[in-house]
Amino acid sequence: MFVKYLNFIRRVSVTGIGKTGVILTTSSFITLVLLELARLTGTITNAYVGLVTYLLFPLLFIIGLLLIPLGWYRLKKKTGKSTAELLEETFESDDVKSALTGSKLFRTIALFSVINILFLGVISVQMLGFMDESRFCGTACHDVMNPEWVTYQQSPHARVACVQCHVGEGAGALFNSKLNGIWQIVSVTFNLYERPIPTPVRQLRPARETCEKCHWPEKFYGSRLITRYHYGDNENSSLLYTTLNLKIDAGKGGEKAGIHWHIGRANEVRYTSVDDEREHMIWVEARRSDGSYHRFYNREWAAHRAEDLVERAMDCVDCHNRATHIYEDPEQAVDERLHKGLMELSLPYLKREALRAIKPGYADTSAALEEIARSLRNFYERNYPETASQKKTSIDAAVEVLRDIYRRNIHPQMNITWGSYFGHIGHRGNTGCFRCHNSSLVDSTGTAINYDCTLCHSILSNREKDPFKYLGPINTDEKDYPMHQYLRDEFLRSFPR
Ligand code: HEC
Ligand code: HEC
Ligand code: HEC
Ligand code: HEC
Ligand code: HEC
Repeated sequence: MFVKYLNFIRRVSVTGIGKTGVILTTSSFITLVLLELARLTGTITNAYVGLVTYLLFPLLFIIGLLLIPLGWYRLKKKTGKSTAELLEETFESDDVKSALTGSKLFRTIALFSVINILFLGVISVQMLGFMDESRFCGTACHDVMNPEWVTYQQSPHARVACVQCHVGEGAGALFNSKLNGIWQIVSVTFNLYERPIPTPVRQLRPARETCEKCHWPEKFYGSRLITRYHYGDNENSSLLYTTLNLKIDAGKGGEKAGIHWHIGRANEVRYTSVDDEREHMIWVEARRSDGSYHRFYNREWAAHRAEDLVERAMDCVDCHNRATHIYEDPEQAVDERLHKGLMELSLPYLKREALRAIKPGYADTSAALEEIARSLRNFYERNYPETASQKKTSIDAAVEVLRDIYRRNIHPQMNITWGSYFGHIGHRGNTGCFRCHNSSLVDSTGTAINYDCTLCHSILSNREKDPFKYLGPINTDEKDYPMHQYLRDEFLRSFPR
């Protein structure tokens, strides 16, 4: 049988096309095997090598495979002989000429086809698997995905693969994502992509197929105490607290209420927005578990063309759009590092000067890193020469922390700067929850969606020295969400001022 295969190869190699095919197939096969061995043994880890292994060589292999029959066809035309004749012609042994030849030939071809298919199958499974690795998604086209890769690696989902949120399950989702991937390769090659990459991501699968594979929507979260730390602009950057008790889930008996009410099994919120951007709502409708239905219209957008509207059922991503690509706001970023003790608070005006160093728009990252250092050092050298020399190491350490903040959040090559992407949790201006919870969306009776300050949280302090300043009078009427004294004491124990 092997003899026959060799004969076939020898025969087909008579034509130029056939020869090219044989060489391409064999050599790409051998290279692939070697590269794969290198990858498996850990000799090569670079994502680009993987890209070549799994894209270029299989392509060459397939081209080679296509050339071989073409060469055979050419040979047949040139010699005017049939396939069987061509193969038989070179067979020397007698048994080959026996009646069985036909079926043996068939078997030979079948066998090698099976081998080829198996080989291709294994390679393509490997290829899909490799392309599903977060490292591939995050680093194969470095400039483009670097912002997502950087933010992802520092998020609660750093161990969740990109594809678990971006592709979801099922062959259809996989196929769509690969089609999309081809377009992405084209747009990266020819520089056609938008900077920054626009959101919302329209081809994102519904949360049911992604987030909810890990997060069970029925889970009861209760309420959650959160504290925000705000350091002041004054000389000793004094600390103020904002403390909220978030009413994430106050449901009773399986019913959802509170913030996660929107994802309760029996509740549904649908909406349409201007230009499908999910920012300015035209109408919002709510179906509650008791069967009641309300539609709230925004008078401001009432005249918007109705025919191009896309309706959307609200899911996790309408609030948790920054579940993993978390960009910080400059103030919050500095506050957080100060609170972690990464920068020495005894440096005068540290908060104010830190912001002054990281906020401006710089030409590129290397200029920014230099300017950040210059800005902070100059300030101390000019105004506090003693501090500048005595606390040089603290100042240098602060410079490094500020540079890290900058590198994480600002990506000039993708036009990403402060505020390019923002989260929908909370409310800055009219964003986040206030896209719907506001006075301009009203139902037929003129009633707006509730936007009381205590609908979603109790406010225990708002930029106060005492993190529980308002505990007591303001919140005493909230019987469903009691804030007990022990919480206050526990808080003070864990965050001593
Ligand atoms: C926990 C789920 C999750 C994981 C894991 C995840 N993403 Fe995302 N990604 C999202 C969500 C949600 C959005 C925003 C969708 C929206 O607003 O429509 C997003 C947006 C994006 C965007 C658009 C730009 C932006 O920042 O909004 C890109 C590009 C992207 N992701 C790439 C990646 C890459 C690459 C990885 C892996 C390194 C990854 N994602 C991992 C959930 C995820
Ligand atoms: C493959 C599983 C997986 C998928 C898919 C997933 N998550 Fe998560 N998520 C986790 C895990 C695990 C954690 C907990 C991480 C920790 O606490 O260390 C988490 C944490 C969270 C948190 C809490 C974050 C915090 O600050 O503590 C939120 C909110 C969240 N996920 C939302 C989402 C959303 C929205 C999606 C879909 C876009 C999603 N997750 C998809 C596994 C997943
Ligand atoms: C109406 C907006 C909204 C929707 C829709 C929503 N969430 Fe949340 N979720 C919140 C808010 C607000 C918080 C608390 C604030 C925070 O963690 O920063 C929260 C908290 C969480 C937490 C963290 C709880 C904790 O103890 O820290 C998880 C996990 C979570 N949500 C998952 C989900 C998943 C999964 C979905 C979709 C099935 C979803 N959420 C839908 C607004 C929403
Ligand atoms: C797309 C519009 C939309 C967005 C965005 C939105 N909500 Fe809602 N929310 C609604 C609607 C509609 C209702 C029900 C109003 C009604 O029936 O009176 C509701 C109800 C609520 C309720 C009361 C639930 C109950 O128990 O009755 C809370 C709490 C709430 N939302 C919190 C939030 C928070 C927090 C956010 C932001 C993280 C948010 N919502 C974002 C549309 C929205
Ligand atoms: C529809 C729900 C909802 C309503 C209504 C609402 N908030 Fe909030 N608020 C939130 C959520 C969610 C957060 C963010 C929590 C987080 O950061 O995890 C927040 C955050 C805040 C913060 C902290 C901001 C920070 O980072 O320092 C303050 C202060 C605040 N709200 C005050 C108010 C006031 C005052 C009102 C009434 C005008 C109000 N809220 C109405 C949901 C709501």
